[in-house]
Amino acid sequence: MTTAIPAVAPDVIHAPSQQTQWWRTAVIYQVYPRSFADSDGDGYGDIPGITSRLDHLVDLGVDALWLSPFYRSPQRDGGYDVTDYRAIDPLFGSLDDADTLITAAHARGLRVIVDLVPNHTSSDHAWFQAALAAPAGSPERDLYMFRDGRGDDGGQPPNNWDSVLGSSAWTRIMEADGKPGQWYLHLFDESQPDLNWKHPQVRAEMEDILRFWLRRGVDGFRVDVAHGLIKQDGLPDWGGRVEMVGGADGNVGGDDAPSVADGRQDGDDAPSGSEIGNLPSDTIPALPVLDIDAPAAHPNPMFDQEEVHDIYRAWRRVLDEFDPPGEQVTRAMVAEAWVEPESRLARYQRADEMQQAFNFGFLVTTWDAAAYRQVITESLAACDLVGAPATWVLSNHDVVRHPSRFGLPTPGARPNGIYAHDPQPDEALGLRRGRAATLFMLALPGSAYLYNGEELGLPEHTFLPDDVRQAPEFFRTGGAEAGRDGCRVPLVWEAERPGFGFSPTGVTWLPQPAAWACYAADRQRGVEGSTLEMYKSALRLRRQYGLGGGGLRWLSGYPIQVLHFEVFDASGTAVTVLANLGGESVALPDGYDVLLASGSLPDGGGLPADTTVWLRCGH
Ligand code: GLC
Repeated sequence: MTTAIPAVAPDVIHAPSQQTQWWRTAVIYQVYPRSFADSDGDGYGDIPGITSRLDHLVDLGVDALWLSPFYRSPQRDGGYDVTDYRAIDPLFGSLDDADTLITAAHARGLRVIVDLVPNHTSSDHAWFQAALAAPAGSPERDLYMFRDGRGDDGGQPPNNWDSVLGSSAWTRIMEADGKPGQWYLHLFDESQPDLNWKHPQVRAEMEDILRFWLRRGVDGFRVDVAHGLIKQDGLPDWGGRVEMVGGADGNVGGDDAPSVADGRQDGDDAPSGSEIGNLPSDTIPALPVLDIDAPAAHPNPMFDQEEVHDIYRAWRRVLDEFDPPGEQVTRAMVAEAWVEPESRLARYQRADEMQQAFNFGFLVTTWDAAAYRQVITESLAACDLVGAPATWVLSNHDVVRHPSRFGLPTPGARPNGIYAHDPQPDEALGLRRGRAATLFMLALPGSAYLYNGEELGLPEHTFLPDDVRQAPEFFRTGGAEAGRDGCRVPLVWEAERPGFGFSPTGVTWLPQPAAWACYAADRQRGVEGSTLEMYKSALRLRRQYGLGGGGLRWLSGYPIQVLHFEVFDASGTAVTVLANLGGESVALPDGYDVLLASGSLPDGGGLPADTTVWLRCGH
């Protein structure tokens, strides 16, 4: 351990916000309905189960919940395959149950965001069934993306696109005469046919669905695959495969994501006398010059076409209909758009479009302080271009849970699920890093998203038997990918109850590892140092110090693998954050009090590896 020198070279990259709309600073908790809480004992979570556990969210201190889809659906992609956008699937309850949940949440001061899946319907949707029954060229077919095949007999798909979930993005249908006929496009599973968003009826229908839910009192929408609705004219061939949230070909992160930029090897970042207070100037990224009109980093005919923005401008007008005259924008939309660079993503957050977009660039960042400095700087700068809040997210229902990602031999790698025979995450190390990452994330200005169970420190389930898996990519890739079930295991509430309190019968749709008793909420509540109490303290302090609306200034004076910044309000009152992503302990600065730490701090002082602290100047 070495002695740190107080901050030098302050570098403000983001000013405190003057605006007060709730969504600018909200911490939003994602509820995955199948896995949160089951009230009727069938082993699947449901809406009454969510309502019965709302006090957990109040106690946690979040501002809003986002519900993954609960609409009528055959559940071939966990509800992201909707048959009726105005009905609740019986698995989850009824419309009355949804109304009760919205009312109960509002009564507790929690906002409610629902998931909207506009890119595709379920193949069971009445429109698609009608399209199958109607002939080629019919108005019914025109609501979807039907095309004739290539080759003499039309036996080849219309183009070479692969589905995000593996295998071809096209499926050929049988026509009414029993002969193979046209093909339809599905960027995801074949049970999820893509809608034709050039069609006015599709646009009118979805706007009506928005109004249906706004009238029921929802505070906003999470927009699924927001960058996918319009495809390039002519549907030209394209050789890549887009993977869920980053991956090999042309999407967020991938090979171009900031990585271990400084060539560090383990131990390299141990502070040395010459490093302290003597950082190379490029370790604090300069405010980048960003251009909102810059082209996409990886143009791709399936995604991020200019015309999608017309759709969101129209939706924004619909949301604004529900704001009382003269009031600030009270309903919000968040885009799930895997788009880079950050300035390109900011286009979805322009003043007349959505309010937020998920920051997947942050989610895919590897365990490296230089990479985090870069992505945080760029994210804030890009959002500032359009006056939107930055967002921060580490886990969701599509990715390996972040403690497990950070416990992998390559910390922060993003496999599409983890099998028992794959290299296993180090659970203790991953949790330590996961908590450290959460703590620096929750200090950042803007809005943050939490995924249900992360407040308990849940890891990925890495040894699910194949016969319980349900995620479609497992089947579409012939098992090459374990898929997303490992992050969707039902939550653990009470250590001593069957199914850890998830359901009254103890039945759970995916098995919970017996060892997860230690993560149960009742084992952590009120226990100093538990992950749950760390999240609660962080959210309380975040609110107390107005961190979500704060400005951000990078500080130097520490080794390169230490993130060092302060978040300050208009009066200059600041919380200082130190996150040690390096291999060795560093000294804490003199004259500061520790507000909160992600791990235990040694008696003699110092900040251990893989630990974050929030500090306040004591004098
Ligand atoms: C989004 C969802 C994912 C789903 C896909 C298709 O990426 O987050 O779970 O599989 O869209 O709807």
